[in-house]
Amino acid sequence: MASRIENAEFRKKVTTAEEAAKLIKPGMNVGFSGFTGAGYPKEVPVALAAQIKEAHARGEEFMIGMWTGASTAPELDGALAEVDGVAFRTPYQSDPIMRNKINAGISEYSDIHLSHLAPMVWEGFLGKLHTAVVEVTAIAEDGELVPSSSVGNNKTYLQEADQIILEVNSWQSRDLEGMHDIYYRAALPPNRLPVPLTHPGDRIGQRNFRVDPKKIVAIVETDSEDRNTPFKPLDDDSRAIANHLLDFLANEVKQHRLPKNLLPLQSGVGNIANAVLAGLLEGPFDYLTSYTEVIQDGMVDLLDSGKMTIASATAFSLSPEYATKMNDNAKAYRSKIILRPQEISNHPEMIRRLGVIACNGMIEADIYGNVNSTHIMGSKMQNGIGGSADFTRNAYISAFVTPSTAKGGAISAIVPMVSHHDHTEHDVQVLITEQGLADLRGLSPKQRAKKIINNCAHPAYKDMLQEYYDFALTVANGLHTPHDLRTAHSWHVRFLETGTMLPA
Ligand code: COA
Repeated sequence: MASRIENAEFRKKVTTAEEAAKLIKPGMNVGFSGFTGAGYPKEVPVALAAQIKEAHARGEEFMIGMWTGASTAPELDGALAEVDGVAFRTPYQSDPIMRNKINAGISEYSDIHLSHLAPMVWEGFLGKLHTAVVEVTAIAEDGELVPSSSVGNNKTYLQEADQIILEVNSWQSRDLEGMHDIYYRAALPPNRLPVPLTHPGDRIGQRNFRVDPKKIVAIVETDSEDRNTPFKPLDDDSRAIANHLLDFLANEVKQHRLPKNLLPLQSGVGNIANAVLAGLLEGPFDYLTSYTEVIQDGMVDLLDSGKMTIASATAFSLSPEYATKMNDNAKAYRSKIILRPQEISNHPEMIRRLGVIACNGMIEADIYGNVNSTHIMGSKMQNGIGGSADFTRNAYISAFVTPSTAKGGAISAIVPMVSHHDHTEHDVQVLITEQGLADLRGLSPKQRAKKIINNCAHPAYKDMLQEYYDFALTVANGLHTPHDLRTAHSWHVRFLETGTMLPA
């Protein structure tokens, strides 16, 4: 274990998770490592949660501000939310306990674009970052920190925090060193320079994190695996959605609007995104590249098969089986995978320059192509916007995917008007359900409505959508984007009142 701390000065700071957690005080803002269940600290947050619980039992107030890369795992989001320890959370979460606390009004949540958080921290309006708690793979002899299975906002947290607690996790492969590309020249205007990255495989930074040793107040040694959820086996709907997208891309190649090896792919979180990657494995495209946020199982398969040559991201989002495979073979994957800070993996400049093909999941879309990725029935937070808008707004092609219904058919994913807006009609180019695909590029709102209703809606809801649209044409105050404002959200209201969007 000690060999992972290769610098003698740093070894003197080794302590227990309990002692380290005591350095985090009520009201502090804490920047934790962690991105989609990869590279999050595993022991200090659990110890902190226990201390918060004890403080609450004594009648003392103890909550913190919790900043991360993105979602984490039960040992971090779950543990701190469980004890009502999080006053403020940003920028993304997907933990069921944390979600409940946000929706119960206990934790405030600022759901923001993932590329924005690091610059916001530099700007300082989120307040002081008191503590960084960052998992690393090793501390190199020269005192630099070898990143672990996610980079996220760690570079920023290590730079900005007053004090730093490190977890050195010997479960992470020591061979991860060299996989990361930490870019240190990002700056705020007026000093912002072009980021010199013109291919997903470019390396523009350094391998490891720099750190000021004086700021390190505790080091905890751990040996714990990342806890990602396994993907669901592919079902008929996700296969159908993947096939629609692959047919669309093949046609784009045929029309000479895409090169034969496509353009760098971005693939969102979740099972359908993973199904699309599985479809690519059997598809006709070779020499693929990826400029994305997370590396999923499907992407590892593409790299293994030789179909994909390079994948750039900020974190792994691997099932336990694939996480083990990555750890066992990290040395070989180093030449094909690059993990970057999230302000670079999700940077609009690169997404636009490289011409990324973006594909993300959604909650619902409306007949005009507006997309809700985050809220259930208008008010309840699901996960957050994550990087979906970083990619969608700047992509060469931006697609959204979902099954056409949810909750066993009680909810239509295509509705008259979305109950919350994340991606406007201006940014959404392609909508896909298992029913079909609507290519919305270059269409007016009324032309889009026709395609979305015909191609994407479930048969149980198709006529209802058409009726809404036809009626809206007769009552709207204008015929550009016809709506009947009295009934635009009536489907959502009906669901909340009766448990289904279908009429009695
Ligand atoms: N109305 C109400 N509830 C809906 C719904 C709808 N139209 N569509 C789905 N749901 C519910 C599901 O029933 C499920 O509920 P449950 O947790 O109670 O079972 C829940 O929402 C999640 O749905 P699921 O189909 O399992 O979602 P998913 O894993 O495919 O994820 C998103 C879909 C939109 C939640 C997910 O893609 C997301 O968080 N996106 C935003 C962030 C993002 O895109 N990140 C990637 C950027 S790189």
